[in-house]
Amino acid sequence: MQVNTLILGAGAAGMMCAAHAGPSTLVIDHAKAPGEKIRISGGGRCNFTNMHTDPSRFLGQNPHFHKSALSRYTQWDFLDLVDRHRIAWHEKTLGQLFCDDKATQIVEMLRAEMAQAGAELWLQTALADLSHDGTRFTAQLEREGKRTTLSARNLVLATGGKSIPKMGATGLAYEIARQFGHAITDTRPALVPLTFSYQRFAAISGVSTPVIAETNGTAFEEAVLFTHRGLSGPAVLQISSYWKEGDSISINLLPGHDLTVSLKSARQAHGKRNVTTALAEVLPERLVTHLSSDLPLGGNVGDLSDKRIDELSDRLRHWTLTPTGSEGYRTAEVTLGGISTDRIDSKTMMSRDVPGLYMIGEAVDVTGWLGGYNFQWAWSSGVAAGRAI
Ligand code: FDA
Repeated sequence: MQVNTLILGAGAAGMMCAAHAGPSTLVIDHAKAPGEKIRISGGGRCNFTNMHTDPSRFLGQNPHFHKSALSRYTQWDFLDLVDRHRIAWHEKTLGQLFCDDKATQIVEMLRAEMAQAGAELWLQTALADLSHDGTRFTAQLEREGKRTTLSARNLVLATGGKSIPKMGATGLAYEIARQFGHAITDTRPALVPLTFSYQRFAAISGVSTPVIAETNGTAFEEAVLFTHRGLSGPAVLQISSYWKEGDSISINLLPGHDLTVSLKSARQAHGKRNVTTALAEVLPERLVTHLSSDLPLGGNVGDLSDKRIDELSDRLRHWTLTPTGSEGYRTAEVTLGGISTDRIDSKTMMSRDVPGLYMIGEAVDVTGWLGGYNFQWAWSSGVAAGRAI
């Protein structure tokens, strides 16, 4: 059997690419359904893009690589597609756009676009062998116990990263890229909760509060969530992409609040009030109780000297913690790192060394912030490859 293009992976990037790659395109996936991560994303509503998409909100060894694809298929282009399919959407917060109803609407939209473009989809299909003779790729595909030999002029690697192996994530794209001489940068789980030993925050599990979380010079102002195993919530998921084992993180528990002013005025007005009671006006009470085992919070507000107030404020603005690890690929939203962009053409996503080999989506060393950026990269890189094919 011969096709013009074989796409490995019917996820966000693979389906988007298929919708633009023209006829004679076959997409294969080992899963039972396409776009499974789209289906479960955004709590079932899919945070499909972000209005503030900008190259600065992506990580990768080459900070310029993703600019071209993102500028040629933008968040507004994707939104236009969503509108054309009459999918109702809303902005939740910070430019994050979600479906009003169901994430499966996005999967259906992509299936419809693929069908219109004449692309075929084979599910529960595995790649058993792959070779390249300099002009064409030959793939051995296994489907329903049968083997098919397929010859394709173009091969697109769109099998994603390593996050959530339970959902079928594999390192296939990395393996194939390596087979064709492409380097793989160090990979690690990102957008992932950070863990601590001794169930350090178990007693305040479920407590959430706005913070500025910072590590290695990058900070995010959002909420932190204390859990049985450690820290989660958007602020921590965001900094997890900038954190490496052994690094500490700093948490400002008082964003936009001047504790020195409020404690000094409480000292005048309510001197007999406990320090913990005064703090519970600005922080969740359970968190204050937890902090009192680390910080000297005993006594009355009236007894606080200016120096102690300043110290207390400083400690709460720079709460320094060293996570022991992260929840890992089991729960990570994405994989940081991947196929090195060094030998990939940023306009077409084609290999500079193997003509006809394309690499797109999460498999590539481009990782977005939390908030719809990773899907936008999947759409933009998928369209770049599809148009080039
Ligand atoms: P993706 O993982 O989507 O697709 C890869 C496909 O390849 C899958 O269909 C898989 O079955 C297939 N495959 C893998 N190995 C194979 C093999 N060996 N043989 C055959 N097929 C194989 N992002 C965002 O922007 N907004 C959001 O709301 C969310 N929410 C979210 C929630 C959760 C729980 C997760 C895990 C992730 C998110 N993300 C997200 C991230 C987003 O899902 C991710 O960045 C994109 O799905 C990446 O798209 P790709 O197409 O590159 O990979």
